[in-house]
Amino acid sequence: MSHHMEWFREAKFGMFIHWGLYSLLGRGEWVMHNEGIPAAEYETLMRKFKPRRGCIRDWARLARRAGMRYMVLTTKHHDGFCLFRTRHTDFHALNSAAGRDLVAEYVEAVRAEGLKVGLYFSLGDWNHPAYKAVANGDASQCGKLREFIHGQVRELMTQYGKIDLLWYDGAWFNGGTLSAESLGSAALNDMARQLQPGIIINERAGVPADYVTCENELKPAPFGQDWEMCTCINDMWGYARHDYNYKTVNQLLFLLSNCATNGGNLLLNIGPRANGTVPAPQVQRLEAVGRWLKKQGEAIYGVERLPRVYTSNGRVTRKGSRLYYHVYYWPDREWSIVMSDQAMPGNDGAEPRPLVRLGAPVKASILATGKKLATRWEGNRLILSGLPAVPPDKADTVVVVDL
Ligand code: GLC
Repeated sequence: MSHHMEWFREAKFGMFIHWGLYSLLGRGEWVMHNEGIPAAEYETLMRKFKPRRGCIRDWARLARRAGMRYMVLTTKHHDGFCLFRTRHTDFHALNSAAGRDLVAEYVEAVRAEGLKVGLYFSLGDWNHPAYKAVANGDASQCGKLREFIHGQVRELMTQYGKIDLLWYDGAWFNGGTLSAESLGSAALNDMARQLQPGIIINERAGVPADYVTCENELKPAPFGQDWEMCTCINDMWGYARHDYNYKTVNQLLFLLSNCATNGGNLLLNIGPRANGTVPAPQVQRLEAVGRWLKKQGEAIYGVERLPRVYTSNGRVTRKGSRLYYHVYYWPDREWSIVMSDQAMPGNDGAEPRPLVRLGAPVKASILATGKKLATRWEGNRLILSGLPAVPPDKADTVVVVDL
């Protein structure tokens, strides 16, 4: 895979943002569909959509504090409301009470924090007659739909300078009129790559692209395939006033380290209110993850995926000659790691080589505190001693072994 994937592989952690007219209602991003709200009624929400200036800059700052390296914003979700200036529909932010191009504001904010810019774009559009027609089997509208989608993606790829990532969603191919062919997905990606050389694209337009996604479920792709898991801090993507089902900080750290060591990224969602504020439980959790990454991020960013990732009490990963053991379940004052000198294939087809030489001198320490640990070999067991009785970090304490 070409070098444009480098930043993505290094990043490991990104912020997903679901935000649009639905945020006003506070019942998730599917509210229009789920409650059967007629388009004409839903459109009146535009009059009330007036986010505070600077709110997007706050999200970008929050992402940086959380240790995230990229952001992905819903420029248009399935409801069809566009946060960007578009010539292809009137249903966009400049015609709302906001009266400004929120994608322009977003791109500027993300760049200002030194993060990579990702744009989410829903191929499905409940507000557009051609989409509805094609989804219902009317092939005569395919041309119109294709023109509309390609036109909007072209706008996103040309109006804001450099875009790093394009995240499609919501095509819901119907096995007939609505397909990757009828949407012209291959040509769509060609256009995006031509306008934005080096852009990274997900696979949800129905043609193979740079990486695959999994949703709300940690499902590592086969070795050698880049992937990303997206999930929420609670359950709902778009702001949901009464969604109290928050993951704990420990659960979020488990997801992050489990994705990273298995070669994937975690794209973690926030659902800001329509006015742009982020619910406090989301902010608090992201900041806690950021504090963990400040101390132990070395064991996340840019780590390699080993063919054997699972250990007796967590996960293992590597950078150069340094192994990182993410310990979820602390052993005790002494810990025996079963090592193997069997040759294993490296990342991206590198020559198979053994992970360790049994009996070779190694050094071990605790990453968060720098505490050195005594090491000795007993056959294929590497025994570390001098561990504290209680782990310095109860979610995930990283033990480093230098080969
Ligand atoms: C699903 C949902 C959508 C959400 C997306 C995130 O496709 O339809 O609402 O944006 O998941 O991956």
